[in-house]
Amino acid sequence: MKSAVATLLAAAVLARAEVATTLELAPAQVTAAAATTKPESPVSNIKGLAFDRFYQVWLENIVRGRLPGLVSGLPLLTCFQNYDDVAADSNMQWLASKGIVLTNFYALTHPSEPNYCAAAGGDTFGMDNDNFNQIPANVSTVVDLLDTKGISWGEYQEHLPYAGFQGYNYSNQETYANDYVRKHNPLILYDSVVKNETRARQIKGFDEFYTDLNNKKLPQWAFITPNMTNDAHDTNITFGAKWERSWMSTLLKNDYFMNNTVVLLTFDEDKTYNKTNRIFSILVGGAIPDHLKGTKDDTFYTHYSTIASVSANWGLPSLGRWDCGANILQMVANKTGYVNYDVDITNLRLNETYPGPMADGHYAKYSPVWPIPATEGKCSAGHGILDIVEKTYAHTKPTYNYASPFPVDSKSDYNTNVTATRKSSTSTNTTSSASGTYTGAANAATIPSSIMAGASVALFAYLI
Ligand SMILES: *[C@@H]1O[C@H](CO)[C@@H](O)[C@H](O)[C@H]1NC(C)=O
Ligand SMILES: *[C@@H]1O[C@H](CO)[C@@H](O)[C@H](O)[C@H]1NC(C)=O
Ligand SMILES: *[C@@H]1O[C@H](CO)[C@@H](O)[C@H](O)[C@H]1NC(C)=O
Ligand SMILES: *[C@@H]1O[C@H](CO)[C@@H](O)[C@H](O)[C@H]1NC(C)=O
Ligand SMILES: *[C@@H]1O[C@H](CO)[C@@H](O)[C@H](O)[C@H]1NC(C)=O
Ligand SMILES: *[C@@H]1O[C@H](CO)[C@@H](O)[C@H](O)[C@H]1NC(C)=O
Ligand SMILES: *[C@@H]1O[C@H](CO)[C@@H](O)[C@H](O)[C@H]1NC(C)=O
Ligand SMILES: *[C@@H]1O[C@H](CO)[C@@H](O)[C@H](O)[C@H]1NC(C)=O
Ligand SMILES: *[C@@H]1O[C@H](CO)[C@@H](O)[C@H](O)[C@H]1NC(C)=O
Ligand SMILES: *[C@@H]1O[C@H](CO)[C@@H](O)[C@H](O)[C@H]1NC(C)=O
Ligand SMILES: *[C@@H]1O[C@H](CO)[C@@H](O)[C@H](O)[C@H]1NC(C)=O
Repeated sequence: MKSAVATLLAAAVLARAEVATTLELAPAQVTAAAATTKPESPVSNIKGLAFDRFYQVWLENIVRGRLPGLVSGLPLLTCFQNYDDVAADSNMQWLASKGIVLTNFYALTHPSEPNYCAAAGGDTFGMDNDNFNQIPANVSTVVDLLDTKGISWGEYQEHLPYAGFQGYNYSNQETYANDYVRKHNPLILYDSVVKNETRARQIKGFDEFYTDLNNKKLPQWAFITPNMTNDAHDTNITFGAKWERSWMSTLLKNDYFMNNTVVLLTFDEDKTYNKTNRIFSILVGGAIPDHLKGTKDDTFYTHYSTIASVSANWGLPSLGRWDCGANILQMVANKTGYVNYDVDITNLRLNETYPGPMADGHYAKYSPVWPIPATEGKCSAGHGILDIVEKTYAHTKPTYNYASPFPVDSKSDYNTNVTATRKSSTSTNTTSSASGTYTGAANAATIPSSIMAGASVALFAYLI
């Protein structure tokens, strides 16, 4: 154990040096660490309202070898050309037939890293780059939420050389082709995770996925990143979809893995930076009722919805960031009675983000101030804000209106012209008082009463 700590610390020190120097770990150091670092595989069995296990697998927007897009200038279709490329793939269609296609699911910005970052911490922090970003330890993530009820979690990153490895990349050691990359690893970006030696060792490679599967020691929450070949980044959607079908089809036959499980198959972002950033997403797994297999769900979701859905499912608090107001997966909303929002995407700009401390001026403006989360409100999940967030940020005003179902910043005129209204008829638990309209132009620091009233009506409905 002691040597593992020492190794991780050494790795962390080296990783830190990379910020300034972009030096890589020497292969001998990696081999030494890999020999002594023991992966951590906690287990738990906490029942959820709609599922007992939540996994996400992210493929990548294609960087080269992409199928040619549709001719620009055509209405609508061209806006979603990456989505349509994916939807047209026969292996994706096979996967879709096994579950529910989420036709209105959006990434949050560009390039890759801020999307992975947001899916763990509920914020982009203005990140507009794939740098060696480190998020300070006073920022909480989804794993802090899971830890409040002892719900086991882990990550499986293909070809991560050892559990908790913090280097910038680990390339194929023969060809030096891209293989594992830090920018596609959400939890590794957070000091609140990696500075805790036990937590860091819950970030593992694919070999450990199969070890945990065979030992029936898989966690209840996991994030899965295939390498740069399999995730389509350095190949193409045909290749990535074929990999995903092959990977999933083994698991779909595994009773232990499928037991009340939901797997979200999605992408980090769309390809075309000036478009809407809609991404093709599918829910599969044993928790999907048979009659919904092969169907579509047009509810507006973003990567923030995954945090909110996990919270609603297991009765967990919110991070008080954009997960607070995010729509929750309809299969969970149907159980809690929460009424999701319809978001009018006409003016929605999820292709870039607001200013922040992680911006380097590529697409967002640098601002030294770390965004302050909300410390009060029920949020869409209905269970308020995480204790440590309340304590850390007590008596400070939230930077944004995190109760909004889409990210908005009035100071930088970001999504201020977007409106959202409560969905009218999708939930049988809808009541007239749960209706409401949200406009992005509302004061950034005010939580609109309609959202909070809606949430409490929904919670009340659930309690009775
Ligand atoms: C959180 O940490 C950052 C970076 O160290 C610091 O700038 C900020 O003031 C801290 N926030 C609080 C509320 O302690
Ligand atoms: C990271 O990638 C670069 C090439 O982009 C390569 O030279 C270096 O050896 C890689 N580092 C590791 C640890 O694989
Ligand atoms: C990515 O992983 C696959 C195995 O899943 C392997 O065949 C491929 O060579 C890896 N890519 C690189 C660049 O090493
Ligand atoms: C490290 O993380 C583990 C598991 O999440 C937790 O039980 C432990 O309290 C953490 N340790 C510290 C010092 O925060
Ligand atoms: C997709 O990528 C694979 C692997 O790199 C390659 O063999 C195949 O020719 C590519 N297909 C297209 C249509 O580019
Ligand atoms: C599924 O989980 C339940 C507990 O939630 C357990 O009783 C059952 O044995 C599990 N089934 C399989 C096939 O693992
Ligand atoms: C986002 O989309 C808008 C509208 O198409 C465009 O003006 C802007 O340049 C895009 N931002 C980026 C970073 O591409
Ligand atoms: C979006 O970018 C493409 C190139 O990727 C360009 O052809 C098109 O004109 C751009 N559209 C807008 C509205 O900026
Ligand atoms: C949610 O409930 C509605 C209304 O009963 C139903 O049409 C829909 O299929 C349900 N969705 C899921 C994912 O359970
Ligand atoms: C609505 O809420 C009740 C609890 O009051 C719950 O039992 C019921 O399953 C919910 N309705 C739907 C369609 O899920
Ligand atoms: C939002 O609307 C206002 C008023 O019509 C306009 O001045 C502003 O430019 C719009 N902002 C964006 C980002 O479109």
